[in-house]
Amino acid sequence: MPDRLKVVTIDGPSGVGKSTISRKLAARMNFTYLDTGAMYRAVALKCKQNGVDVSDEAAVALLLENLDIQLLPALSEKEEVRVILDGKDVSSLIRSPEVSMMASAVSALPSVRECLTRMQQQLGASGKVVAEGRDTGTIVFPEAIWKFYLDAAPEERARRRINQLRSRGEVVHEEEILAQILKRDRDDSVRTIAPLKAAEDAEVVDSTRLRADEVIEHMLGRINRK
Ligand code: DC
Repeated sequence: MPDRLKVVTIDGPSGVGKSTISRKLAARMNFTYLDTGAMYRAVALKCKQNGVDVSDEAAVALLLENLDIQLLPALSEKEEVRVILDGKDVSSLIRSPEVSMMASAVSALPSVRECLTRMQQQLGASGKVVAEGRDTGTIVFPEAIWKFYLDAAPEERARRRINQLRSRGEVVHEEEILAQILKRDRDDSVRTIAPLKAAEDAEVVDSTRLRADEVIEHMLGRINRK
């Protein structure tokens, strides 16, 4: 068995607060935050920009040959990581509802997963990383020391997503957001490759009734014990 990696993995469905929690936990531990979802979003945006159909795996695979993604720390505590795709800052573009749905579709393609998993493993190879996604505890860093699976009721996740989008000044339709969350859950869980599920050695944390800071304290407590 390989040495265990000084990596924290945080997986779970969309809208569960993984990004906020992972980013703040990484800051508290002085670790680097690795937002793997942002990388799937960047590939989806690249497809959109090049007019490539996300169900056409051969065409998507061609785009991967010239994929240049850089993740930079957020400018403030409230913001997500900055994502540079092919030299341009696409941090806002990758967060649109359309790109979210496309990201779910590209994430089901084996060639995309292989490519991004390899990049993520390189980024985490020396440890001191908090990796956030759907398969970071199961596939990307199976040897991570600390693994969490964050969950919350879909209605609560929809409520949080709606607040987040509204705080950015976007007009949102509540039922649409809940429907999108349920669809993405279904798509992410039933896909044959790297389906969304907790690693056997992950601790499942239900955050439906917990604030982000409470979840972080709980995780830090666990981490300090191991
Ligand atoms: O976490 P997010 O919403 O930014 O992720 C965008 C999409 O990418 C989401 O549909 C799931 C997918 N994803 C994945 O399949 N594996 C990961 N490790 C991270 C994200």
